[in-house]
Amino acid sequence: MVTSAAPTTRVTVPGPRPYDVLVGSGLLAAGTEVDALLGAAEQVAVVHPPMLRSAARALAEALDGAGRRTTLAEVPDGEPAKDAAVATELWSLLGRAGFTRTDAVVGLGGGATTDLAGFVAATWLRGVPVVHVPTTLLAMVDAAVGGKTGINTAEGKNLVGAFHPPAGVVCDLSLLTTLPRADLVSGLAEVVKVGLVGDPRVLDLVEADPDAASDPDRPVLRDLVERAVRFKAEVVGEDLHDRGRREVLNYGHTLGHALERVSGYAWRHGDAVSVGMVYAAELSRAAGRLPPADVDRHREVLASLRLPLSCAGGRWPDLLDAMRVDKKARGSVLRFVVLDGIGKPGVLADPNPAWLLDAYEKVSA
Ligand SMILES: NC(=O)c1ccc[n+]([C@@H]2O[C@H](COP(=O)([O-])OP(=O)(O)OC[C@H]3O[C@@H](n4cnc5c(N)ncnc54)[C@H](O)[C@@H]3O)[C@@H](O)[C@H]2O)c1
Ligand SMILES: [Zn+2]
Repeated sequence: MVTSAAPTTRVTVPGPRPYDVLVGSGLLAAGTEVDALLGAAEQVAVVHPPMLRSAARALAEALDGAGRRTTLAEVPDGEPAKDAAVATELWSLLGRAGFTRTDAVVGLGGGATTDLAGFVAATWLRGVPVVHVPTTLLAMVDAAVGGKTGINTAEGKNLVGAFHPPAGVVCDLSLLTTLPRADLVSGLAEVVKVGLVGDPRVLDLVEADPDAASDPDRPVLRDLVERAVRFKAEVVGEDLHDRGRREVLNYGHTLGHALERVSGYAWRHGDAVSVGMVYAAELSRAAGRLPPADVDRHREVLASLRLPLSCAGGRWPDLLDAMRVDKKARGSVLRFVVLDGIGKPGVLADPNPAWLLDAYEKVSA
């Protein structure tokens, strides 16, 4: 049981169509918060993985009780949901149910589910409202906020998608109590990233009590989620279409994505980003931009959460190739988000190859 009885926090994501992210405990059970975000929708499709079937049923009952007509749309667990064939099935379901422009989709699940649900909502009739109910830490602090939606193709991850900000997001922290520990810890890497690039108070909170920070029953995690959501809201509010400011969210992701790719996605995203952040810190140090003590701080805070600090050695040429095709590279010139101090992100374009290799040696076992 989550003991925190603190009232729900509301973070508004600014932009042409501002929306609210609610953070609290037990928010899903009554369905009231989700219902309030669904506007005039007569019909609602709740997209969810098998794992969240009973939560989806309870939500559907609550929405039906509030006078809406709800359809449950169960999709495969995790990444296999982000597939054109699954999107096609959902379009058919919406077509058969006669979904109009004012009807709405709910994405209930981890980031894979919210990415798929958002994509289907973005494309059905050129855009119907979507409300996200993220159920993993990663989805709460990252995937469900910011309006990026998408699916994968055989050629790579997230290659097909659309910017489609949700009508609202409901983060119910009590859902995190069933999340496997490894997924919770992986999500914390994105929280630490926020501490490193924008809100150093996040680092203080984790450092003060790393165990409490990774316990969904303690209020510290809630504080961390709220801080991470606020930071992401501020950044995407300024740069929805990823043309500038949003790049800071990519800290640790250039090597992180390469590790995921080269391993055939055997790495959890947050684990790869953890190593990627140590790499980016080492690169910042090699470039003379970050003091060694701040690099040590990266290692200490990540290790305190049992996040990985290194990867197997011997893969440098593959990783370098993978980094060159990363979407953050412009042409084939490598671009890294680096730090000029904790909370002071900057960009390093076309770095000295010796620094790149030196930083790799520091993170490969
Ligand atoms: N759109 C964006 O801006 C953005 C940002 C970051 C990541 N993403 C995407 O998010 C996805 C990764 O998200 P994820 O880590 O949430 O993965 P995921 O959706 O695959 O969920 C991980 C696992 O946790 C299970 N699960 C979900 N909620 C649970 C709960 N409450 N209790 C127990 N198990 C639960 C899921 O069924 C799944 O097996 C990737 O596809 C990535 O591309 C998108
Ligand atoms: Zn990420």
